Amino acid sequence: MRIRSIEELRKLIEREKRRLSSYKYRIYVVSASCTHPEVTQGLLETLEASLEDIYIKDEVLVSPTGCLGVCSRGPIIRVEPGDYVYVHMTPEKARRVVYEHIIKGRPLKEYLDDNVTLFLRKQTRLVLRNVGKMNPERIEDYFAKNGYLALAKALTEMTPRQVIEEIKRSELVGRSGSAFPTGLKWEIVADMKDYPKYVIANLSEGDPGVFSNRALAEGDPHAIIEGMIIAGYAVGANKGFLYVRSDYKLALKRLRIAIEQARRYGLLGERILNSDFSFDIELISGVHEFIAGEETALISLIEGKRASPRRRPPYPATQGLWGKPTLVNNVETLANIPLIILKGAKWFAQFGIKGSKGTKVFSLVGHVKIPGLVEVPLGTKLYDIIYEIGGGIPNGHKLKYVQVGGPSGEIIPGDKLDLPIDHKLMGSGGIVVFDDRTCIVDIVKFLIEFFMEESCGYCIPCRVGLVRIYEILDRITRGQGSLKDLELLEKLCTVLRKACLCGLGRSAPIPVISTLRFFKDEYLMHIEKGICPAGKCPINKSVNER
Ligand code: SF4
Ligand code: FES
Repeated sequence: MRIRSIEELRKLIEREKRRLSSYKYRIYVVSASCTHPEVTQGLLETLEASLEDIYIKDEVLVSPTGCLGVCSRGPIIRVEPGDYVYVHMTPEKARRVVYEHIIKGRPLKEYLDDNVTLFLRKQTRLVLRNVGKMNPERIEDYFAKNGYLALAKALTEMTPRQVIEEIKRSELVGRSGSAFPTGLKWEIVADMKDYPKYVIANLSEGDPGVFSNRALAEGDPHAIIEGMIIAGYAVGANKGFLYVRSDYKLALKRLRIAIEQARRYGLLGERILNSDFSFDIELISGVHEFIAGEETALISLIEGKRASPRRRPPYPATQGLWGKPTLVNNVETLANIPLIILKGAKWFAQFGIKGSKGTKVFSLVGHVKIPGLVEVPLGTKLYDIIYEIGGGIPNGHKLKYVQVGGPSGEIIPGDKLDLPIDHKLMGSGGIVVFDDRTCIVDIVKFLIEFFMEESCGYCIPCRVGLVRIYEILDRITRGQGSLKDLELLEKLCTVLRKACLCGLGRSAPIPVISTLRFFKDEYLMHIEKGICPAGKCPINKSVNER
C-alpha cells in the first residue's frame, strides 16, 4: 500500500499504536548477533506455545527485537508494560515467565539482574530509542514509534534549506569520529550546482570491540533509512548508497527487508508521499576492511575500485562519488536526523554540553562488570559511564587506564575519570577499560600492530613508520629498548601525524603519544630497570633468567 500524504501516514501511525497498546503484555525476545538464531527461535516458540496452552495468545504480543546492549547476559527477554529485562533465558525459564509474570502478574525477581536494570535505566537512549522495543523486521512497528513522520514533515512543511538550518541549529556533529558539523556538511553539498548528487551512509565500523552501528542497524534499520531520505531531500540527491561490511549479516538482512518495505509503502522511490521528491537506496556490502571506513576509500570502493583513500581536497562534499557532490554520513549521525526534525533542534540541544550536543552510543568493553552499549549525553564523565552504568571493575581489581574513541583514541589514566566525553574525545565510540593487570607498552604495541595490518600501504610514513614504531615497542617489551628509542618514537609519531594521507595513519600514533605523556614511568621501568610492572612482557623472563 502506497502512502500518499502525511494524513494517511498519521492514520497508519495511530492504527499501529492502537494495535500495540491493545495487547495486555508485549514480550520481546532479543534476536541479535550475540544470540544463535536457533536459541531465539526456541524462545519465541516456547513463549507462543505456553500462551496458546492457556488460551491467551491473542492478548500477548511475542516478538523478536534488536540488541539491548547487554550481550553478556543473553539470551534476553524484555516484558512490557514496565521494563522487565530477564537475563540468561532458557525455554524452561521463559515458560515460568509466562506462568508467573503474565498470568499471575508477578515479575520473577530471580531472573532479573539489578545491575542490568541500572545499566539500562541510567542511559539516555535517543539513537537507540526503538532498539529492544520493536520488531525491526516490521515497518508497522516503526510506524507505531512515529516512524517516517519526520520525513513527512520535512517533505510537506519544510524547504530543503529549512531542514539544513534545523540540523545546523541542533549542533549535531558526525558520529564516526570526525566530529564535523553535520548541518555544515549538508549545506556544502546542497550549495553545489553539479548533478547528480549522492548520499552515502557508512556502516563499515572497523574498530575492534565497537559494535554500536551494527546494533542500531539490527535493531532499528528504518531510523537509518529515514535519516538518509531526509538527507537526500535536504542536499538535492535522489540516490543513496548504504554501505555495510559483509560480515554484518543480520544487519544486512534487516536493512534489505526495511528498504523493500519502505519501497512498498512508497517511502522510497518515485514521488515520495506524492511530493516532487524521489529517492532510492542501494544496499552495498563489501569484505570488511578497516580502511573502508575512511570516506574517500569508501567512495573508491563503491565506484568498484580498491578501497584506497584519496588526497583531500577536493572533499567528497564537492567531488565525491564519480566526481559528483556526495554527502557521506555515518549511520548513527543519520539516525539522529528524524528526531531533530520531529522534535526540533532546541529539544535536541538540551542534551549534551556547550559545543557537544546530543548523545553518543559507546561500546563499553574490557575490564568492566557490565560491558555493552551505553548511550549517554555528550559531556558525561568517564567515571559515570564506567562505574555508575558499567558497574565498575570486576574481581576487586583497580582501574589503570581507559582508551576512549577506538584504537586510535586517547589513553586516559585511571585518576582522570572526571573528564567529560565531548565530541573531540568520543571518536568512533569505543571505551575500553583496562585494569591493573595490563601493561601499557604491551597494549600500545598491540594497537600499533593492528594499524600496521590495516594500513593500505599507499604512503610511506604510514607503511614504514608503523613498522618502525612497532619494532621499537617490541624491543622495549623485550628489555632491549633504550632512551634513544623513546626519542625516536616521539619523532616518528610526529612524522606520521603530519605526513600521512588519511586519518588511519595520522591518528594511529595517538595511543603512543598519550601514553608517553601519562605513563612515561612505565616505559622507563621497562628500559632502565628491565621490569614490566604488570608482568606481561617477555622482559620479565629475561630478568628472572639473569
Ligand atoms: S595513511 Fe596509511 S592507510 Fe592512510 S592512505 Fe596512507 S598508507 Fe593508506
Ligand atoms: S544483546 Fe545480543 S548482540 Fe547485544
